[in-house]
Amino acid sequence: MPVEFISAINVNPANEVNGRRDSAIDVDYLRRYARILEEGGFDYSLVPYGSAGHDPFTISAAFTQVTERLRPIVALRPNTIYPTVAAKALATLDQLSGGRAVVHFIAGGDDHEQAREGDRLTKAERYARQEEYIRILRRVWSETEPFDHAGTYYSFEDFVSRVRPVHGTIPVSVGGSSAEAYAQGGALADIFGLWGEPLKDTRQQIDRVAEAARAAGRTDTPRTWVTFRPIIAPTEELAWEKAERILAILQSRSGAPGAGQPSGHRGGLWVQTPGATGPANVGSQRLLEIAARGDRHDRALWTPTASATGARGASTALVGTPETVAAAILDYVDLGADLISIRGYDNLNDAIDYGRYLIPLVREELAHREATGVRGEVVAQPPLDQELSAVTA
Ligand SMILES: Cc1cc2nc3c(=O)[nH]c(=O)nc-3n(C[C@H](O)[C@H](O)[C@H](O)COP(=O)(O)O)c2cc1C
Repeated sequence: MPVEFISAINVNPANEVNGRRDSAIDVDYLRRYARILEEGGFDYSLVPYGSAGHDPFTISAAFTQVTERLRPIVALRPNTIYPTVAAKALATLDQLSGGRAVVHFIAGGDDHEQAREGDRLTKAERYARQEEYIRILRRVWSETEPFDHAGTYYSFEDFVSRVRPVHGTIPVSVGGSSAEAYAQGGALADIFGLWGEPLKDTRQQIDRVAEAARAAGRTDTPRTWVTFRPIIAPTEELAWEKAERILAILQSRSGAPGAGQPSGHRGGLWVQTPGATGPANVGSQRLLEIAARGDRHDRALWTPTASATGARGASTALVGTPETVAAAILDYVDLGADLISIRGYDNLNDAIDYGRYLIPLVREELAHREATGVRGEVVAQPPLDQELSAVTA
């Protein structure tokens, strides 16, 4: 599989560093953002889900109509929509977009957030329901004759869908860092989503998912998706200054992390409201534990951005010049991660910078390896004629 790049869609200019609080969709901005991602060489954009946020199916449909290639990854919590309806909605989006739909499953990491939309199952039950849900989706996409389903969480009779996915099925992603997530993702997922951890910890997570895949009798393993918040600038010194500026802003805004605000997507970041004892989802707990071990890990991974935000969502940074961060990304590619999610803090400007300065470096080195069979060094490019965007907040 080729290495591909993921971003996350933003529907208006509000982000974590500019402090804007816009909540409505800015249609021109959304269109521009989607086109910038496509022109910058991104392959996918996550369209996240939160109880207080916009409907990801509608956002996905809209942005596929202003792009040619960019694929929406629709975040889906099984409690929010009946599986036969979700299967048709995804297949409809797939047809509208010429076969570009992807779905990312969220079992739900937090009881309180789940209860906001009436979901009162335990986490173990939520994962069990999600398994049944994924199996139903795939059956709906493939069955041509009416069928019945009698399961633990769903039962229906005489159902058939005439809405077929363009390529027969739709890629299914599962995310999380709990034992349940590894077991289910390993057994069922086409893609497994992770947040950015040090190489050793990422290796362990990839191995856990692969073990689960083998235990489930699979001969393949899910593709690995790993998520970072890169902070790049023309020199190492400028990148670290920029990182410290962003950190100061995050710290000044965090106060009591998430207090009083529902979990949701704020400023390009999935924000999981922590309970009184800290985050309930294992992914966030792991990031906080890694941050407690030290600020800097491996080549460029930086964790104070995770501590400053209570690790509510993908929150670890890769800091340095485009060359350093490209080399760091390639370290994860070497581990087997082939879906690289990069989204910044000043989201639109960062997406432009990644498309100009970062993605091409990774792709050039990968092309070089493929052509020569030899690993190269990610070397400095000719002097940049434009300053990378500065944080303006
Ligand atoms: C790449 C990625 C994207 C995610 N996007 C969302 C999202 O849009 N909405 C959401 O509620 N949770 C999102 N999550 C959070 C997890 O899916 C959630 O914490 C999970 O349901 C439970 O995690 P756990 O098994 O690690 O405890 C995302 C996780 C990953 C790894």
